[in-house]
Amino acid sequence: MLDDFSKQCTQSKLANLCEQLVNTSKQKFLVNNGNIPKWEGAIEAIKNQPQGRIEYQSPYLKINSKNIDKDQLEYSLKQLMPWRKGPYQIENLSLDSEWRGDMKWDRLIQNIRPLKGRTVLDVGAGNGYFTYLMAITGAKIALGIEPFLLFNYQFQAIRALINNPPNAFILPLRLEDMPNECVFDTVFSMGVLYHQKDHMQHLQQLKNTMADDGELVLETLIIDSKYGDQIIPEDRYARMRNVWCLPSTDTLHDWLEQTRFKNIKLVDVTKTTPEEQRATHWIGGNTQSLKDFLDPNDENLTIEGLPAPKRAIFICNK
Ligand SMILES: C[S@@+](CC[C@H](N)C(=O)[O-])C[C@H]1O[C@@H](n2cnc3c(N)ncnc32)[C@H](O)[C@@H]1O
Repeated sequence: MLDDFSKQCTQSKLANLCEQLVNTSKQKFLVNNGNIPKWEGAIEAIKNQPQGRIEYQSPYLKINSKNIDKDQLEYSLKQLMPWRKGPYQIENLSLDSEWRGDMKWDRLIQNIRPLKGRTVLDVGAGNGYFTYLMAITGAKIALGIEPFLLFNYQFQAIRALINNPPNAFILPLRLEDMPNECVFDTVFSMGVLYHQKDHMQHLQQLKNTMADDGELVLETLIIDSKYGDQIIPEDRYARMRNVWCLPSTDTLHDWLEQTRFKNIKLVDVTKTTPEEQRATHWIGGNTQSLKDFLDPNDENLTIEGLPAPKRAIFICNK
């Protein structure tokens, strides 16, 4: 995968960053993680399956292969659980991930500049469901960065099933690892801001990667203004440990202004529903999902008594 990335990277606007990105990625893959042999074994087995063409057939990213060994493929893909992001379908095998990513994609796609020909960065890309969509929709190259190694392996597993894969790649990097080069025409940060201890630094780092007049697509958890300017959860939020700050949309607008983004537009606010985030047999032993994280007597509150998850999408320019 890194070889393919290098080849495509050198033919793109990312050519100057290529060596640094590949070298840092190689180091990150060297960590001592006891699961890696299992994940690599799964990918080797998946490489014996037939490949097919990938297309978006909502809600699935669908791979039109023929004659997969369905039981064997399901077994191999399950070695890479939990599958949070998707859903994917390989021939007649539906990989129903915890999240219906198509619902977020449908909320944003009509609001952003067309991706055709653009150099795109997807920060916190998970297993690359959206990164694939960005490339399929026409991006010249879509680079996803995702520090969690399992999700990198999930991306590779899906890629191994695609004949002539689109120009989408995932590298095991954090935004903080990205060189300060203003090259990306569109930068996505979706579901990442609330995981940052320093949200202003994250916004500045996103801006540092963007080409002049580039577009930022920022999707994150927000609260209604009746709850105040922001909530800093004392402990968990909807059972998540690492949620640092939930702003109102006005507060988030202010943060973007302070980072000197232009043309700031709020294009969507949507409450997360159990249709969009649900337990499936692809998330492994811990089968809890959104409905278990909400107050059983009041779906407007989390189990900790905080406002239930609602997400906003802001679009702005550098
Ligand atoms: C909630 S998931 C969102 C995945 C996907 N973007 C989506 O919208 O569904 C957040 C992801 O961001 C990654 N992440 C967290 N901090 C990051 C950082 N500083 N740089 C890059 N990725 C980060 C996490 O590992 C996690 O996979």
